Amino acid sequence: MAFDIARTRAAYPALTEGFVHFDGAGGTQTAAGVIDAVTDVLRAAVGNRSAAFTPGRRSLEVVAAARQAVADLLGAEPDGVVLGPSATALTYTLARTLGADWRPGDEVVVSRLDHDANVRPWVQAAEAAGATVRWAEFDRHTGELPTGQYADLVGERTRLVAVTAGSNAIGTVPDVPAIAKAAHAVGALVCVDGVHSVPHGPTDLASLGADVLVTSAYKWSGPHLAAMVADPARWAELRPTKLLPSSDAVPDRFEYGTPSFALLAGVTAAVDHLAGLDPDAVGDRRARLRAGLAAAQAHEEALLDRLLAGLAARPAVTIYGSPARRCPTVSFRVAGTSPAATQQALGDAGFCLSSGDYYAYEYFQTMGLRDSGGAVRASIYHYNTADEVDRLLAELDAVADRTGTMVR
Ligand SMILES: Cc1ncc(COP(=O)(O)O)c(C=O)c1O
Repeated sequence: MAFDIARTRAAYPALTEGFVHFDGAGGTQTAAGVIDAVTDVLRAAVGNRSAAFTPGRRSLEVVAAARQAVADLLGAEPDGVVLGPSATALTYTLARTLGADWRPGDEVVVSRLDHDANVRPWVQAAEAAGATVRWAEFDRHTGELPTGQYADLVGERTRLVAVTAGSNAIGTVPDVPAIAKAAHAVGALVCVDGVHSVPHGPTDLASLGADVLVTSAYKWSGPHLAAMVADPARWAELRPTKLLPSSDAVPDRFEYGTPSFALLAGVTAAVDHLAGLDPDAVGDRRARLRAGLAAAQAHEEALLDRLLAGLAARPAVTIYGSPARRCPTVSFRVAGTSPAATQQALGDAGFCLSSGDYYAYEYFQTMGLRDSGGAVRASIYHYNTADEVDRLLAELDAVADRTGTMVR
């Protein structure tokens, strides 16, 4: 079906403010259903979790519903869904937990394509354990993460392979199933950062080959909460540090403190929003999620092609990477202006884009771009339009005209 962009945009109250949001990779706008769900919980009588009274049962239900929603989104079991404040916090929890069992001579493999949230927690846990860190390198021209290198990177002492399912810097979608296969062949655990990939298409934990998959709801129309999913049997093997009286059940034992019940209701509503992106979709929520996200993906990919063609037609624009499979995310620079100055000029005109390294620290360091300001990032989300892409390109021309750069 044709993606109904007018209907989709109407679901985002913030879009009426008129800004042009090419900053979904940094956080999307919030769907109306999410706002309502959060508000409903805040207005209702809600107590801390207890089966003994109705307000306590409500918070139990909110948590259970959020686990089920994230499970449907990722193809996981509800009891495998660990909820937390951010992908970074959850990854640190897991890294500390796994790292406690690592010994000198053990190895972990991280990639230079990843957001630092799926790098530094592992590097620091390895350092604390005296384990060795091995680095997967990306191709500097294409931005691909060659799969072949993993055969050499893993060995019998490899305990963990951490890799992204979608680069938040240049969009690359690595061949995670092949990387996971290489890791599993030596008995290593695979932790996949799905923060940038999950908003842009259907996701399936098993097909990815991920043992652990991390996602953040604020990248897919929801509130600032995150989830880390695995087979519940995997969680049962692990013993995170925790308070003595807190639940030792799986997955609760990985969650610290009292959850944000209102925002958790927002997570469920965000999943329901994604499941409604294709109004003709039928079946259970997982089936509707697949249909809705596939429809959104086709829409986003058409916009990405338009954006890439427009940027490529401007000789003063340098685009970083040309990966074959990618999320709708592009990093670029305009000759003669710094990324921050380009961002500021676009910001002054109402266009929201990131600049800098967006925490893809190793990518920009390796490219030699970090010290000179990184790049500008245009990231497309399903509420963007072809007209917005054209206006962004026109605004880039205006920026270049003002700074005297011949962008066209
Ligand atoms: C690819 C990727 N991984 C991890 C993170 C960190 O997510 P959080 O802000 O939930 O810690 C981000 C945030 O931008 C990201 O883009």
